Amino acid sequence: MRYGHFDDETREYFITQPDTPLPWINYLGCEEYFGLISNTAGGYSFFRDARLRRITRYRYNNVPMDMGGRYIYLRNNANGYSWSPSWMPVRRSLDFYECRHGMGYTKITSTSHEIMSQVRYFVPLGERLEVWELSLTNQRSTVANISVFSAIEFALWDAWDDATNFQRNFSTGEVEVEGSVIYHKTEYRERRDHFAFFACSEPLVGFDTQREAFLGSYRGWDSPLVVEQGQSENSIAHGWQPIGSHHISLRLHPSETRQIIFVLGYHENPRDQKFDPPDSQTINKRTASPLIARYLDPAQIQAAFDALHDYWDGLLSVYQVHTPDEHTNRMVNIWNAYQCMITFNMSRSASYYESGIGRGMGFRDSTQDILGFVHMVPERARQRILDLAATQLGSGGAYHQYQPLTKRGNNDVGSGFNDDPLWLVLAVSTYIKETGDWEILDEKVPYDNQVGSEEPLYGHLQRSLRYTIDHLGPHKLPLIGRADWNDCLNLNCFSSEPGQSFQTTTSKDGKVAESVFIAGLYILAAQEMESLARHLDRQTDVLAALETAVDMEDVLWQSGWDGAWFRRAYDDFGNPVGSQECAEGQIFIEPQGICIMAGLGLNNHLARLALDSVKERLATPHGILLQQPAYSHYYLHLGEISSYPPGYKENAGIFCHTNPWIMIAEALTGDGDQAHNYYLRINPSAREAISELHRCEPYVYAQMIAGRDAPTHGEAKNSWLSGTAAWNYVAITQWILGIRPSHSGLEIAPVIPSSWQGFSAQRIFRGVIYDITVERIGSGNSSHLFIDGQPVEGSIVPLPTPGTKVVKVRVQIGK
Ligand code: GLC
Ligand code: GLC
Repeated sequence: MRYGHFDDETREYFITQPDTPLPWINYLGCEEYFGLISNTAGGYSFFRDARLRRITRYRYNNVPMDMGGRYIYLRNNANGYSWSPSWMPVRRSLDFYECRHGMGYTKITSTSHEIMSQVRYFVPLGERLEVWELSLTNQRSTVANISVFSAIEFALWDAWDDATNFQRNFSTGEVEVEGSVIYHKTEYRERRDHFAFFACSEPLVGFDTQREAFLGSYRGWDSPLVVEQGQSENSIAHGWQPIGSHHISLRLHPSETRQIIFVLGYHENPRDQKFDPPDSQTINKRTASPLIARYLDPAQIQAAFDALHDYWDGLLSVYQVHTPDEHTNRMVNIWNAYQCMITFNMSRSASYYESGIGRGMGFRDSTQDILGFVHMVPERARQRILDLAATQLGSGGAYHQYQPLTKRGNNDVGSGFNDDPLWLVLAVSTYIKETGDWEILDEKVPYDNQVGSEEPLYGHLQRSLRYTIDHLGPHKLPLIGRADWNDCLNLNCFSSEPGQSFQTTTSKDGKVAESVFIAGLYILAAQEMESLARHLDRQTDVLAALETAVDMEDVLWQSGWDGAWFRRAYDDFGNPVGSQECAEGQIFIEPQGICIMAGLGLNNHLARLALDSVKERLATPHGILLQQPAYSHYYLHLGEISSYPPGYKENAGIFCHTNPWIMIAEALTGDGDQAHNYYLRINPSAREAISELHRCEPYVYAQMIAGRDAPTHGEAKNSWLSGTAAWNYVAITQWILGIRPSHSGLEIAPVIPSSWQGFSAQRIFRGVIYDITVERIGSGNSSHLFIDGQPVEGSIVPLPTPGTKVVKVRVQIGK
């Protein structure tokens, strides 16, 4: 069953029924000011950091779900009937409802009682504010007297404190109201130099800033007393819960349309100019006012919206394809790329499953995210790399995350995940392949942000690799540390205390448990390092990378191969994990993917054998399971992985992040049919028709789909913020469609389904447009390139002479 449909022309998803199985959300904002918005206008906004600068309040895990957001209430003044044009929070039925989520904006249109309402929400590029453009049309044949009420609830900035520290917070709230602008200034009197504003383009007949006055005591957002009465209380919040609500009264003639604009924003003043007059406690509004005025002007707003549209046009135009499969086209051209940009902005901080206070920018997460967005915003990828590297530790290890506002690493969600540093090598080499910007390797970057510890980025990468070699275990495999990619394989944890964090508890010295996955990742990273060193003509480093990779490969075959697949790890007792010897958890997906991506088993039949084992034991119609058999009970020595009921999350869920590794591995063995088949199993658009089962948004990937051991097999959870976005993008664009940057040019080596007669693509690479046509001339995936009509050897289109604008590439595949 569907709850809407795609419109690929406008790059929107149209939701036609408000009560989707779960809130289906979108993101507003690209740079500093961000918002989450659901299809019924739920959600919240923040400036830069979802924890430290929360602008509006949102209650997670609330009932009814998704209560709280950017609300507008309409009231028919003739009879007192009121409704929400976004359906929530009032939930009175609408004669028409449609929500369109687009690239950086959301538009909700509805009709009730012959009043048509349309609201477009977006954040203008480069601004620290969001615009809500409301237009109301009277479709009646008589005059309509309508009251419009806006409503948001301010958060007292630090979202964690806001949700816990009530003894203080119920006394600190402060606001100002001037004209049609409501200012939220809690703690502005002391150390904060920022405030929020909520402005309206119309003269007000009233306003409210105290939540209880607006809602009435013991009432919720679904039935505000003020809306029922049709008259605001003009309340000024002193402590308790500051909100912003404007009341506008309209007289609409038949067929008349009126536009009302609301602007919600964040503003900072210089420390010494906070107040006006200076010795008062009144906000100095001199710099905020012109900005507000600007965005209350419809012409300016349209220009800002057009600019946003062009911005996304530009980003998406870097890679566009036309293949025989609509799900591939739509995800590659629009939604997967879009999701990659969102993970770039959010890492794992704020979604409807990440509360914005739990996690910041993950080291492992953000480095992998780079793989999916580097081609769209290379300059920002560069900065992100440098920010991440600056949190690396002198040992070569890494903080597991940093806070976006401060850019300082912290151990809040654990430390000593031994895979972390290796991902930095992949991120940097991917960045250089995309841009050719070798200079990034010379950038001086500190360790742990300590002044004086700076070293060229190249040195950071060497320390990343060194860190693995410095931490080898009894089999000479890398020690796993807290955990590797699989946060829940906690082999040193041994936690028996309820509620203890698996990520921060350690009970073992960590000198025994080893990871085959890290070994594979090491080989992959060392290969990248080798090609970087080769380019720089650093022979010693080339040799070191090669040697250590070869040694690691030997070790891996000796102790990491289980007979028909790669093992996963060794536990603290030195016993294998992910082996036929195990009672449960015999085969894991991760090492099969990463080891084959590192080239293992490709020159003999063993990669094939491992992939056949995956197909036989892990593949389901809804995607590939993380491991099998699922752990049926809690194992002290395995940790969090066995804490989940079978089929969920890391315990044999379909952890979508890992599926593309298998797609890539299949492509590496030349099986385009199997690779694309796996791709479609988790492709959200391809799952749209089973939305009642899948439940999450059909336009973005979710972290997890419940595995076959779960009673809800096929149900997705944790949408949006997942490495799934970047890796699926890489798998389809670089390995199945086969168009990938390399140090010496654009490589084109498609491994596509046998039924595809070809496809065309446009790739903008280092400023040049590559116009690519692929045609099948026979079976198989061997390919021949023709550049501007001339045949060339190999699969790489060499970098064209400077000044070249367009390169036409024809690829014949099959024989
Ligand atoms: C989550 C984490 C990621 C980890 C994965 C597997 O997605 O963000 O870092 O690799 O879970 O545990
Ligand atoms: C839990 C999750 C895992 C996530 C981790 C983050 O362990 O299962 O996916 O990476 O928390 O701290």
